[in-house]
Amino acid sequence: MKKPKITVVGAGNVGGTTAQRLAEKDAYEVVLVDIVEGIPQGKALDISQAGPVCGYSTRVVGTNGYDETAGSSVAVITSGIPRKPGMSRDELLSTNAKIVKSVVSELVARSPEIILILVTNPLDAMVHVARRVSGLPKTKVIGMAGVLDSARMRTFIAAELGVPGHEVQAMVLGGHGDTMVPLPRYTTVRGKPVSDLMTKDRLNAIVKRTRDGGAEIVGLLKTGSAFYAPSASAVDMVEAIHKDEKRVMPCAVLCEGEYGLKDVVVGVPVKIGRGGAEEIVEYELTQEERAALNSSAGAVRELCAAVDRLMG
Ligand code: NAI
Ligand code: 2OP
Repeated sequence: MKKPKITVVGAGNVGGTTAQRLAEKDAYEVVLVDIVEGIPQGKALDISQAGPVCGYSTRVVGTNGYDETAGSSVAVITSGIPRKPGMSRDELLSTNAKIVKSVVSELVARSPEIILILVTNPLDAMVHVARRVSGLPKTKVIGMAGVLDSARMRTFIAAELGVPGHEVQAMVLGGHGDTMVPLPRYTTVRGKPVSDLMTKDRLNAIVKRTRDGGAEIVGLLKTGSAFYAPSASAVDMVEAIHKDEKRVMPCAVLCEGEYGLKDVVVGVPVKIGRGGAEEIVEYELTQEERAALNSSAGAVRELCAAVDRLMG
C-alpha cells in the first residue's frame, strides 16, 4: 500500500529531526525541502541509511524544489530563522513571514488538499500568514506550540513528583510566547489534580518555568533554539491526523467565537483527526483563566496586525 507523503520544509534542527522521527515510524514517505543546496539531500540520504540499522524502509527524499512534494497529505513547516539569546520570538516576524508566505504558496499549488502544521515562529502569527496565503479552510492550518509547552510542563511536574512524564497530563493554552496560559486546573497526575500533590508555590514556579521554557533552552544552547521536543510534538500531531485519533491537543487555530475570541489565531484545545483541526473543544474556564487567554489573544492580534501591515 502506498504510504502517505509528509513534506517537511526547512531541513535545519527542527526539520531534520522531524524528518528523522517520521522516517522511524515506517508509515510515511518523507520529502525534506530547504533552500540551501545539499543540506536536504544529505540529511535525507543519511536518514535513509539509518533505516537498515533501525529497521525502517521509509523513502526519504531531499530537495531544493517543490515538485517532489506533490500529493502531500501533511506538511510540517519549520523554515525560517530561530531565536538567538536575548531575542524574542516576535523579532523573527518579518523575515519568517516572507519565508512562510512563499513556502505555503509552493506547497498548496502542488497539494491542494494538504494540511499544514506550522512550527516557524512567531508561531501564532505564522499560522495567520499561512491561512491568508493558502486560502485553506481553518481546519487545515494548525500551529504546533501547545503540545510542546504542555510537554515542558509535564516534564517539570514529573521531575518534581518522581513519576513518568507520560502519566502527567497538562494543558497550556494561549499564544506561544510570554503570555501563554498554562492551566494547572486541567493538569493531572495519574488522574489526580496536580494541586493536591504539591504546594501552590512549587506549582507557580513550574508554571513560570514552562512560560520561560523556550528561552531557558536558547540560553543554554546559545546558537539556536530547542528542537528535540518541538520535533516530537510536531510528529505527534502528524500521527494524530493520520491515525484519525480525534485526540484533544492544544493547537494554534483560528477562533471564530469559541472562548469568546473572534477572528484570532491562538492556542486552544482542538480535536485532531483525519480532517485536521476538526473541532475546538471548549473547556470551562474561570474568570481569571479566561482573562489570561483574552490578554494572550490580544498580544497575538497585535502581531497579526503588524504582519498584515508588512504583507500589505
Ligand atoms: P534552523 O535554522 O536550524 O533551520 C531553519 C531552516 O530553514 C534552515 O535550514 C534554513 O536554510 C531553512 N530555510 C530558510 N528559508 C527557507 C525557505 N525559504 N525555504 C526552505 N527552507 C528555508 O532553525 P530551527 O531550530 O529548525 O527552527 C526553525 C523555526 O522553528 C524557527 O522559526 C524557530 O523559532 C521555530 N520553532 C518553533 C517552535 C514552536 O514551538 N512552534 C519550537 C522550536 C522552533
Ligand atoms: C521554543 O519554545 C523557540 O519557540 C521555540 O523552544
